[in-house]
Amino acid sequence: MQSSHKGEDEFSSLTKTCENALAVTYRQTYYKSFRKNCTSCHDAGGESGRPFASSNFNEAWTSFSSLGRAKVEYNATNSGHKAPKTGPQHQALIDGAQAAWAAAEAIVEQCNSGQEIVTTKKTLPANVYTTNPANAAAWPQLAFDLNADLVDPALVGKLRIQFTVEARRQPPPAGTTTNLAYEFKNPRVTVTGAAPLPSYRIRGFKLMRNGSTVQDFTFFDNIDAVVNAGTPTLLQTGGNWAALWVSSADPVVNTDEFQIKFLRIEDGSGLPITGDDGTGGGGGGLPTRVSFNELAGGNPNLNVFTQRCFQCHGANAAGGLNMTIYANSQANAALIRSRMNNAMNPMPPSGLLGADDRQLVDIWISSGTPQN
Ligand code: HEC
Ligand code: HEC
Repeated sequence: MQSSHKGEDEFSSLTKTCENALAVTYRQTYYKSFRKNCTSCHDAGGESGRPFASSNFNEAWTSFSSLGRAKVEYNATNSGHKAPKTGPQHQALIDGAQAAWAAAEAIVEQCNSGQEIVTTKKTLPANVYTTNPANAAAWPQLAFDLNADLVDPALVGKLRIQFTVEARRQPPPAGTTTNLAYEFKNPRVTVTGAAPLPSYRIRGFKLMRNGSTVQDFTFFDNIDAVVNAGTPTLLQTGGNWAALWVSSADPVVNTDEFQIKFLRIEDGSGLPITGDDGTGGGGGGLPTRVSFNELAGGNPNLNVFTQRCFQCHGANAAGGLNMTIYANSQANAALIRSRMNNAMNPMPPSGLLGADDRQLVDIWISSGTPQN
């Protein structure tokens, strides 16, 4: 990265920094090529209504991530879309970007780690498989009760959420009978139980098939929705579907098992719901208010600044920033949080700290950056 400050503006929202690695990868790989090959229809205001090749990178990234990588790759290599601009010639681009995407996915996974909530495994409803391979009509629901259907026993009973997503097999390519993809759409959430209903913020999810996370960046990663209703609420604008491609060596079968991996679910106060909160001591619950004097003090459960920053940001003021002075840290709070959550340009420079350490700084900011 040449300029961290410019980069942060372009990738906007401080709270979505886990995704920045993917945005950077898009910019460095497909985006350049799409700016040449797809711009005629996929620029801002273009006839496609999908501006993933917009000259405004933020707009391009939003469009790309809402379509999902799988679908864009499919159209890029499909001569039936808009040859000669699209077609097999783009396969080399996709193959060449594979390693970069895998690395970016790994960074995002590490950035989100400790906050994922994974459901137990379920097979799809039988009628997904019962009719002919085309099965174009059926969109039955895959359903999970997030109060119970969870891998981590410590999370059971913490989420009054009913989750459903519609699924079907994608019709096989012309002239074949093997299904090479599933399709998923319309994820919905219902908050359950007695009033007053709690509020949750759901920050993306991934699909898992037979125990493996599907690392093709489907558009569900990008969900950011607050839910608080006792009736089914769409987590994203309805209609459009995400494709889960499989290989012909490992095709669609009715024993396939699916899990949903939520990247992060927050409670009404903005704290992530995790398996180890609320237990008190040691690595356990986080306080609801944090002060600068705690971050900069002697309590090892709270003093992130003392332990992780002051060796460089004390009197020697790395980067011109002496964080031991309250006014300096206070004035730079947003920048501090941004750098602490920016996997591509992290602070400390050695890499992102654990989720709890980063969360303590978030709580300090949401407490109003108090000194005491
Ligand atoms: C000549 C105009 C044109 C060109 C060139 C073009 N597209 Fe499109 N594209 C469209 C239009 C129009 C739509 C919307 C209607 C549709 O889905 O076909 C679209 C839709 C799409 C979609 C969304 C499909 C969906 O199901 O929502 C993707 C992905 C896509 N294009 C990828 C590409 C890529 C990648 C390139 C360049 C390699 C490209 N297109 C070049 C006109 C074009
Ligand atoms: C090993 C030394 C080291 C550690 C530890 C370290 N930093 Fe830094 N920090 C630097 C250096 C060097 C720079 C200037 C270069 C850069 O911006 O990457 C910097 C820059 C920054 C900046 C940008 C200042 C500006 O005005 O652009 C912020 C904010 C920051 N660090 C916050 C932190 C926080 C918060 C921690 C602890 C969680 C931390 N740093 C830990 C060395 C360190």
